[in-house]
Amino acid sequence: MKAIPWFVLVSYICLASLHYGLAEGAIHYYDFVHKEHATVNDSFPGPEIHVQKGDTVFVNVHNQGKYGVTIHWHGVKQPRNPWSDGPENVTQCPIPAGTNFTQEINFSSEEGTLWWHAHSDWSRATVHGAIIIYPENGTTYPYTEPHEEETIVLASWYKADVMEVITDALTTGADPNVSDAFTINGEPGDLYDCSNETTYRLAVEYGKTYLLRVINAILNEETFFGIAEHNLTLVGTDGAYVRPATVDYIVIAPGQTMDVLVTANQAPSYYYIAGSPFADSIAPFDNTTTTAIFEYKGNYTPPSTIPFPVLPLYNDSDAAATFTNKIRALNSAEHPVNVPKNITRQIYMTVSTNTLPCPNNSCSGNSNGDRLSASLNNISFDTPSISILQAYYWNLSKDVYTTDFPEKPPTFFDFTGNVDNITLYTNPGTKVIMLDFNETVEIVFQGTNLSAAENHPMHLHGFSFYLVGKNKGNFDNATDPLKYNLIDPPEVNTIGLPKNGWAAIRFYADNPGVWFMHCHLERHASWGMDTVLIVKNGGTEATSIRPHPLPICLLVPSPRCDATPQSFI
Ligand code: C2O
Ligand code: CU
Repeated sequence: MKAIPWFVLVSYICLASLHYGLAEGAIHYYDFVHKEHATVNDSFPGPEIHVQKGDTVFVNVHNQGKYGVTIHWHGVKQPRNPWSDGPENVTQCPIPAGTNFTQEINFSSEEGTLWWHAHSDWSRATVHGAIIIYPENGTTYPYTEPHEEETIVLASWYKADVMEVITDALTTGADPNVSDAFTINGEPGDLYDCSNETTYRLAVEYGKTYLLRVINAILNEETFFGIAEHNLTLVGTDGAYVRPATVDYIVIAPGQTMDVLVTANQAPSYYYIAGSPFADSIAPFDNTTTTAIFEYKGNYTPPSTIPFPVLPLYNDSDAAATFTNKIRALNSAEHPVNVPKNITRQIYMTVSTNTLPCPNNSCSGNSNGDRLSASLNNISFDTPSISILQAYYWNLSKDVYTTDFPEKPPTFFDFTGNVDNITLYTNPGTKVIMLDFNETVEIVFQGTNLSAAENHPMHLHGFSFYLVGKNKGNFDNATDPLKYNLIDPPEVNTIGLPKNGWAAIRFYADNPGVWFMHCHLERHASWGMDTVLIVKNGGTEATSIRPHPLPICLLVPSPRCDATPQSFI
């Protein structure tokens, strides 16, 4: 069994990797070629980008598929450069089929593992790859140099075309069909029919330590991940180092990356590596397990039964919290924590699944003719048909978005308790949050019990932020902040908001631009669990969005998913 992607990156050429010797770091050039495929393809996941901290990369994306596409560099802050961030119709229109477009990726403080993925509807299912950021020259990892490094990409696999899966779901209003398998580096593994000839195998030498760069590119489920009879030591997440934490399993959400060390110190044999879903919801999910093999080199008799890791049950929220509560920033002299202490802007935001009416109750997939929806502060994000960044930069805001995203829930109720008397209906809108340059921001996400409560991987573009607190239940603004971790909170770009719980993040709004924020479960993002933060310019060139010469496809509105070529500069 092999992936049948909607379209994939089939090749890339590293044209040049020019080392100019500038203080700013090296400049690299890549070509990404997208093609549409209905057969086996070997480059799933897609090509890796390798840089050192502070480098710049130009990627020329050649779209030879039949749909428009954009690429996002997940976790790369892109200082002052939202132009290349990628989310469709937030910072750019799709790159039309048959054209190419160059994106500039600016690395700054990131170090470790990040990833890139398509950011147009569900195309990221197959269009994604790793970004590896090595330390700058003259610096090293803050842990013992591993013998070798491996990238482990977890992904979703559908027999059907994922574009049809989401289009059908949005038409009928129902939950999208769940995936048919999960994969590790493109291979589902031994627990699915017909696949074990191509199970991914990681060959290791006894006594050596390996760095696994684990990326969760799965669309709709978080993942428990472990290796039979081997501990994992978490040393980094989301492109920042953490205080080493030794665990039996990790929990990794879509969007997150985790760097773990594993030492081959058990009896030489085969051991299963496994990824199984963490889905604490009543919504349907893919309840299958993907496997790979951790295989010692050398001469020994292969085991008749390969040991399997003990992973928590799919709905074990407490097991997930046990792991995530262990994650602390490294907080060393070389990698200090800089969490804002005095907050000038506090935003309290409910995160809900909802419903919306369909014209004439025409949605057949749901009991009352409604369609499933999702919201932040009861606003279900409507993606506009022209890019918000361009509308903002060239002052066309009235038609494209409004600046009145509510900074607290429009109504207060027992968010995580009995919500039987609360309407499931939400309000569509394209509302953004305006921030002044360098405001110190706290966002408290509040999960609710509306419709199908579950853990939500909330992600913000343009920043990494500190996760200063989280817990079950309703946030209490008087008592909960007293328990914040302001010493060594992890610096991340995606957090698991606990089911029927809250999570508080803090950051400096020091990156002017237009930055998407959304749940990284793709069905929730499609239903409107998204908003946009616009950080205004700070008044000097160094605190302003980089100038951009001309509007790009500004006047050629493209409905979402429209494959019609537009003029593109
Ligand atoms: Cu990895 Cu907007 O996403
Ligand atoms: Cu979600």
